[in-house]
Amino acid sequence: MKNISVQPADGRLGVLVVGLSGAVSTTFIIGTLAARKGLAKPIGSMSQLSYLKVGKGANQREGLIKDMVPLASLDQLVFGGWDIFPDSVYDGAMHAQVLQEKDINLVADEARAIRPMKACFDPKFITRLNGTWIKEGKTRWDLTEQLRADIRQFKADNQCERVVVIWAASTEAYLEMGDVHRNLQKFEAEMHNPDTTQIAPSMCYAYAAMMEGAPFINGAPALTVDFPAMWELADKTNCPICGKDYKSGQTMMKTVLAPAFHARMLGLSGWFSTNILGNRDGEVLDDPASFKTKEVSKLSVIDSILEPEKYPDLYGDVYHKVRINYYPPRNDNKEAWDNIDIFGWMGYPMQIKVNFLCRDSILAAPLALDLVLFTDLAKRCGMKGIQKWLSFYFKSPMHKLDEVPVHSLFEQDAMFRNKLREIIGEEPYDYTC
Ligand SMILES: NC(=O)c1ccc[n+]([C@@H]2O[C@H](COP(=O)([O-])OP(=O)(O)OC[C@H]3O[C@@H](n4cnc5c(N)ncnc54)[C@H](O)[C@@H]3O)[C@@H](O)[C@H]2O)c1
Repeated sequence: MKNISVQPADGRLGVLVVGLSGAVSTTFIIGTLAARKGLAKPIGSMSQLSYLKVGKGANQREGLIKDMVPLASLDQLVFGGWDIFPDSVYDGAMHAQVLQEKDINLVADEARAIRPMKACFDPKFITRLNGTWIKEGKTRWDLTEQLRADIRQFKADNQCERVVVIWAASTEAYLEMGDVHRNLQKFEAEMHNPDTTQIAPSMCYAYAAMMEGAPFINGAPALTVDFPAMWELADKTNCPICGKDYKSGQTMMKTVLAPAFHARMLGLSGWFSTNILGNRDGEVLDDPASFKTKEVSKLSVIDSILEPEKYPDLYGDVYHKVRINYYPPRNDNKEAWDNIDIFGWMGYPMQIKVNFLCRDSILAAPLALDLVLFTDLAKRCGMKGIQKWLSFYFKSPMHKLDEVPVHSLFEQDAMFRNKLREIIGEEPYDYTC
C-alpha cells in the first residue's frame, strides 16, 4: 500500500462560497457557526458525526471520522464569498426563511459581519435573477482576474493558510461541452473573446480558484468544472475538483432504492419523479434552460445502477421522467413524489410511492460542510483533479469521459470510507464479500 503524506491542517481555512446570500449557503454557514459554539448539532454531516472502522479481526477499532482523519476543525473555518445581491449572511438567511429567526440569532453578529463580494454574473446564464452587486468587465478574462484578486485579498485580510471555493449559487442555463472546452489553451483563448456565450460565470470562479491554488466544489449541475480544459488546469495547479449537484433529497432516495431493485433482480418499467418547490432555486429552475441542466443531472442516476444492457428483460425499457414545478407557498420545504412501477415473478406489476416532504437546504448544508473539509484534506494529501471518492455527495459525480460513474449510495459510501482508510495508512475493506 502506498503511503499518502498529509500536510497538517494548521492555520485558518478560508471558505469562499459562491452564492453567499442564498438558502443553502446561509443555512450551511449559520449551522456551522452555531455548531462550533456548541449551540446546534451538525446533523447529516459525515465528517462530524460518522464513525470509521479500521483494521481487521482482533485489531479492528473505530472512531469518529473527525478524530481519525486529519481534517480542519470547525473553529479554523473563516467564511466569505460572492453574491449578486449585497445581503449579509444574516439578511440572506432571514430572506430564505429556512431557519427560524431564533436560530439565526444564535450567531447574529457573526452572520451580519459576513458580507458578499461583488459577483461575476451574466443574465444570459440565469435569466430569472436581476442582481445589483455585480463586477464590471469586458471579457471573462477581466472578470476572472478580479475574482483572483478577491481570493488573494480575502486570504490576506483573514490570515488564511488555505482557501476552498464552493459553488452554492443558482443553476446556470444548460451548456453543452464544445470545442473551446476541450483543452486549456483553447479555453484560455476563449476567455479573451468578447463573445461570452461559451464560458459561463461559474467557469470563471472555478478557473480563478484553481489559479489561486484553491480546490473547487460544484454544488450545482452546470458544466462549470466538468470538462477537459478544467481537468487539465486542476492537474497543472495541483487542485482537487469535484461536483456536480449536491445529492440531497429525491435523488439520494433514488440511489438507495434502485440498487435494492437491482440486488433483488426486480424489474422496473417506469419511474416518475415530481417536485414542488417555492424558493429562489425553484424560481430559477422555472426557466426551461436552467431546468434542462437540472433535468440532465437528475435523469442520469439510474442507468449505471441498473445496467440495462446486461439485464434487458428487467431494465431495457424504463420510462424515467423528472419534473420540478415552482410553487411559492412551499418555499424551501420541497415536496417530492416518486411513483415507481416495478415488476416481479412472472412479470406481475407492483407500485411503490415515495412522498418525501423534505427541507432542501437542511439536507444540503451538511454536504457543503463535508465537501469543504474533505477537499481541503485532499489538497493537503496532494490529490489533484477529479475526486471520485466524493461521488457520495453528488447527483452527477464527475468522471473522465471513458469512465462510468458510480451512483449507488452504498458503493459510494464504500469508496469514500476506503479512501479515508488509505489516507490514514489503513488497509481498505472488501465490501463485496
Ligand atoms: N438545496 C438542495 O437540496 C440542493 C441540492 C442540489 C443542488 N442544489 C443547488 O444549489 C444551488 C443553491 O441552491 P439554493 O436553494 O441556495 O438557491 P438560492 O437561490 O437560495 O441561492 C443561490 C444564490 O446564488 C446567487 N447567485 C446567482 N448567480 C450568482 C453568481 N454568478 N455569482 C454569485 N452568486 C450568484 C443568488 O443571488 C442566490 O443568493 C442551486 O444551484 C441548487 O440547484 C441545491
